[in-house]
Amino acid sequence: MELSTTIKPVGGQDEALPTAAPEPAKKVFLKTYGCQMNVYDSQRMGDALAADGYVPTDAIEEADLVLLNTCHIREKAAEKVYSELGRIRKLKSERAQAGLETVIGVAGCVAQAEGQEIIRRSPVVDLVIGPQTYHRLPDAVRRVRSGEKVVETDYAIEDKFEHLPQPRKAEVIKRGVTAFLTVQEGCDKFCTFCVVPYTRGSEVSRPVAQIIAEAEKLADAGVREVTLLGQNVNAWHGEGPDGKEWGLGRLLFRLAEVPGIARLRYTTSHPRDMDDALIEAHRDLPMLMPYLHLPVQSGSDRILKAMNRRHTAADYLKLIDRIRAVRADIAMSGDFIVGFPGETDADFEATLEIVRQVRYAQAFSFKYSQRPGTPGADMGGQVDEKVKDERLQRLQALLAEHQREFTVQMIGKEIELLIEKPGRQPGQKVGRSPWLQPVIVDETAGEIGDIIQVRIMKAGVNSLHAERM
Ligand code: 5AD
Ligand code: SF4
Repeated sequence: MELSTTIKPVGGQDEALPTAAPEPAKKVFLKTYGCQMNVYDSQRMGDALAADGYVPTDAIEEADLVLLNTCHIREKAAEKVYSELGRIRKLKSERAQAGLETVIGVAGCVAQAEGQEIIRRSPVVDLVIGPQTYHRLPDAVRRVRSGEKVVETDYAIEDKFEHLPQPRKAEVIKRGVTAFLTVQEGCDKFCTFCVVPYTRGSEVSRPVAQIIAEAEKLADAGVREVTLLGQNVNAWHGEGPDGKEWGLGRLLFRLAEVPGIARLRYTTSHPRDMDDALIEAHRDLPMLMPYLHLPVQSGSDRILKAMNRRHTAADYLKLIDRIRAVRADIAMSGDFIVGFPGETDADFEATLEIVRQVRYAQAFSFKYSQRPGTPGADMGGQVDEKVKDERLQRLQALLAEHQREFTVQMIGKEIELLIEKPGRQPGQKVGRSPWLQPVIVDETAGEIGDIIQVRIMKAGVNSLHAERM
């Protein structure tokens, strides 16, 4: 069966009509696991498939194409894929009995890490496609539909972003007034626990012009807040239109000039790449929100060394002092791993200590998970699961205490709120504070996309309540 391949011209509104009688639109069900980068990638895969006539559906049983965008960061994340594939196998055979064809694809980091092995373990899978080749997705799906099993896990030499269609206005409007924009992908740091350098490849920065064009496109569709994404976002660099080498700080200043954009964020950063220009952007650019996700992973120098983080706990604390010196109200967020090989009680105490020093507003903490192919997986001194459980519990209790403190001290403050969407309760709208906290207001407080001045009245468990000033 032939599909119409209508590629929209960049920036064009008109869609060329296929010459043959139109088939009913094919439906794609996309499920996303893992990080924000995967959320962004799923949107772009949706854009690429739309150009090939696919419309999104939330009903998996109606889907002609099921795509799982997977995460490989910890064992649990990776295993989820196989349990989902078990359920999908049943679905596919039910649809086949009704004479309906279903293409099953696995994308994302599990696809990149396991490749062909996925089809061996789960023969229901027709297509395995890694993050570096999403621009080839429509073609890969067409090949599957003509009877092939397709595995696309090369690190493509062409720039995938250049070949992916621009985000579609209608879809951006549907997603709302905040958007992700990937500016950098991959990692050259090789932390010894981490699969990312293997699943996402080496560090690549998107060119300035491409990023600006995409930001303008988002703004044109009503986006007010853009979060720049990268596995090592602050390692982003590129040649500016002035012919000079730009870093993320300079890029943020340029993006601040895009009409319509009112707020900027970026994630995730590595402490080694927080350069002066980026710290100065936190001082001089009010549109850059006072929130910084800066993972430290451990507070023990011995473990930091074994993790190949290439900084000490003192380096990290000094860095935070410098950032807080220019932007006192910045909220810190972090990632932690407990039970890295060789971690002793004393090492773990050092992690609790660094947490006490920094007082994170938000944090993510994990038990170390052995990842195949990473140096950590083969290290001696793997920590007992029970010990990891205990440490994680203690760490999370401390982090929760600080998080609560940060939330409660907001009461009585006057802040700016970006209204994002209707609230869960009728009569409410919900938005975000500059510190990324969900804030609930009365629906009459303003329209979606407005930035309004509010006073925080009370703090719930997961959100703040505010009144318009
Ligand atoms: N085990 C546990 N946590 C991990 N992370 C990355 N790799 C592992 C692993 N092997 C955590 C780190 C990282 C976050 C995205 O996931 O804290 O910052
Ligand atoms: Fe998971 Fe890392 Fe891949 Fe994101 S980049 S989906 S966190 S393995």
